[in-house]
Amino acid sequence: MSLLFPRKHPSLPQNDTPALQAKRKWQLAHSRLSYVWDDQNPNVGPVPMAKSVPKEATPTLTWSVNVIRVLIPIVENLVANVKDELQLAEVQSHLSEITQALEAAKVGAHWPLITHTSHTLKDLVALFQDLVKKELQQESSQEQQELGVQAYRDQFKTLDLPSVADVFTQNQSFARYRIAGPNPMLIKRLTEPMASFPLSDTDFKQVMGNDDSLAKAITDKRVYVVDYKELSVLVDHPQAANKRVFAPIALFAVAKTGSELCPVAIQMGQDAAHSPTVLAVTDTQDAAAFWQWQAAMSTVQVADGNYHELFVHLGRTHLLNEAFAVATERELAQNHPVNILLTPHFEGTLFINNSAAGSLIAAGGPIESIFGAQISATQKAAALDRLSLDFYAYMLPNDLAARGVADKDYLSDYPYRDDAQLVWDAIATWSKHYVEVYYQNDAAVVNDYELAKWVSAVATQGAVTGFKAIESRPQLAEVLTMIIFTASAQHAAVNFPQKPLMSFAPALTGATWCEAPSAITTQAQWIANMAPLQKSLQQLSLLQILGGVYYRQLGDYQTNNFPYFDWFEDKQITQSGGPLAQFKSSLASIETTINARNQHRPEYNVLLPSKIPVSINI
Ligand SMILES: [Fe+2]
Repeated sequence: MSLLFPRKHPSLPQNDTPALQAKRKWQLAHSRLSYVWDDQNPNVGPVPMAKSVPKEATPTLTWSVNVIRVLIPIVENLVANVKDELQLAEVQSHLSEITQALEAAKVGAHWPLITHTSHTLKDLVALFQDLVKKELQQESSQEQQELGVQAYRDQFKTLDLPSVADVFTQNQSFARYRIAGPNPMLIKRLTEPMASFPLSDTDFKQVMGNDDSLAKAITDKRVYVVDYKELSVLVDHPQAANKRVFAPIALFAVAKTGSELCPVAIQMGQDAAHSPTVLAVTDTQDAAAFWQWQAAMSTVQVADGNYHELFVHLGRTHLLNEAFAVATERELAQNHPVNILLTPHFEGTLFINNSAAGSLIAAGGPIESIFGAQISATQKAAALDRLSLDFYAYMLPNDLAARGVADKDYLSDYPYRDDAQLVWDAIATWSKHYVEVYYQNDAAVVNDYELAKWVSAVATQGAVTGFKAIESRPQLAEVLTMIIFTASAQHAAVNFPQKPLMSFAPALTGATWCEAPSAITTQAQWIANMAPLQKSLQQLSLLQILGGVYYRQLGDYQTNNFPYFDWFEDKQITQSGGPLAQFKSSLASIETTINARNQHRPEYNVLLPSKIPVSINI
């Protein structure tokens, strides 16, 4: 179905004439031919996906040009890392052809431009993949041992070195990853001592001081934990004895007088009886204790990298919204108000998911190369997480409450929570207003037979756990809020830290490169545990792309095809001071609030509305 023109005359199916109802039915039957469920995808199955990407769901010209612009400097950086001079001359000439081709493309000749751009992007991606492949085939060099961390810094030859490279060994940075990093979704407040991590009060006091105690800190709501037990399946299936993933538990506390989250101790695995516990140290006087602590932090960072990419990013944003994108096309007619609201929030999602499932997480792909567990176990873990995620429980307010971190009086420094709540509330108001325009009362929701089929499709064919009948306007608004928030803010929060916080491998990577990180007591051992340089170059190149493409902004609703008309036509939505204007105004005011917050905290900018794309498209 064409997305060229705005959707006119939104209406609920029960309000249409029999002739219009028949037309809707015909249109949906036609749409179901293009949007076909598939729970047998070889890499993410049984997670339901679209069997193929319909032509209308392929990326827009603007998106492709954006990707090319992001990709060119990354390829240039790869080229600068190439040591083979013959190969270098060849790729430089190829890259210059591509750059010239992009410059020669003139807006105006639209169709030739689309073809041209698509070829240019394909050429560039092929060049990128070829360069990475050749790099990975290189013999491992001595640079890693000789130059240490500097060798990784040197790989950012033409790209800006992320600032985390200067501070990643600090305890403060380690703690900050939990509250303002790529995965701010795991930290939870401890309400009682953990049986699986029986830290002694003596150990707690050694880090937090003799005037504090673990019991008192728990009572005061000052103890927090990240527990990677869900990674146990990865622990059991390492790629090699020296390329693996652990499932550690890290404990943090806020001091009696202060607001900063401080690391206290790390238990290196789930089994307390056999997993060493490493206490946080802040100085380098005892070198063995210092490097052991650094290795323990690295082990948590690797676990977090896996938890982030497989669960929080791929499963809970990309693959979750795939189910809604497919069900919406199959069950809600194109003039259904919910279809009209959601469609712009699915722009690019099926395409990028198809690409992620087909290459990123496929055997032989970058996940297998960079991450530590066997690829089949990695795929199964991602699928299981997505399928077991409870839709209502994962709504922001419910998730924060369940983790004991909703109350700002405790863990007062939690940038993700504070900014996400603002955006959630703005989307909730927009959804409420939108729903109230088209549904006069709760009965209208119950009588919407297309919506009922959509719910059923999402729950069964889409395999979204906990998805249940929608019986009121507030419930419908809440569901729409969750889908829109996931497509926009949540994906932004977990996608864009990939560039600044995940592309420098010594700070965070996908595998622990030794058998027993708890045995590390020297700097040389700690460096040897880092990803090989070829892998770190692959990691930085990939994550600079994934964390670098911004396409369309939340609140910016346009058609998908040139010349990109405004999407909404209904005056009830678009009128001055109406629901859409109010939504945009809320986003502008959130922008101001977050900018003001950033004057008084280390910058956290991923939830600035101007940096939140409207859909998952990268
Ligand atoms: Fe993404």
